[in-house]
Amino acid sequence: MNPPPILPILRYPDPRLHTVARPVVAVDARIRELIASMFATMYDANGIGLAATQVDVHERVIVIDVSESRDQPLVLINPVIEWASPEKRKGEEGCLSVPGIYDGVERSIAVRVRALDGDGHERVIEAEGMLAVCMQHEMDHLLGKVFVEYLSPLKQGRIKTKLVKAQREVQRA
Ligand code: NI
Repeated sequence: MNPPPILPILRYPDPRLHTVARPVVAVDARIRELIASMFATMYDANGIGLAATQVDVHERVIVIDVSESRDQPLVLINPVIEWASPEKRKGEEGCLSVPGIYDGVERSIAVRVRALDGDGHERVIEAEGMLAVCMQHEMDHLLGKVFVEYLSPLKQGRIKTKLVKAQREVQRA
């Protein structure tokens, strides 16, 4: 079997990042192939999470691995936040779709998420710390939201300008 392909990642401010993803109807071979490609893409880019939206597939699929050893893959299909702690904390976030940009976003410090895993089995994941933040960040992607949208309009404008310029330079090279 061929290794799963590494997929191109959409870069902010690509308007396709604002697409709202549809629920997955069946966890079948097509979805399992998508998951394998998403993990290959995320690990290749040294990311800790990737939503299908970021590879221009608009279905509710997320892959995550927040482990140092890069060997604890987590799949969330059709995830729902059942509970989020009222206590929030501001932490620095980055995103594979917004390369080189890191800024503070306020998130619940703990969440309980219900989702299907890669075998289509329902799971409940209780998380705090980095995993809780990562799940909230990736679930935003499925709603068409990128973390920079939590920042001030001034900062968003600066980030857009910087990334558009960087992408032009890549195209010219
Ligand atoms: Ni992201």
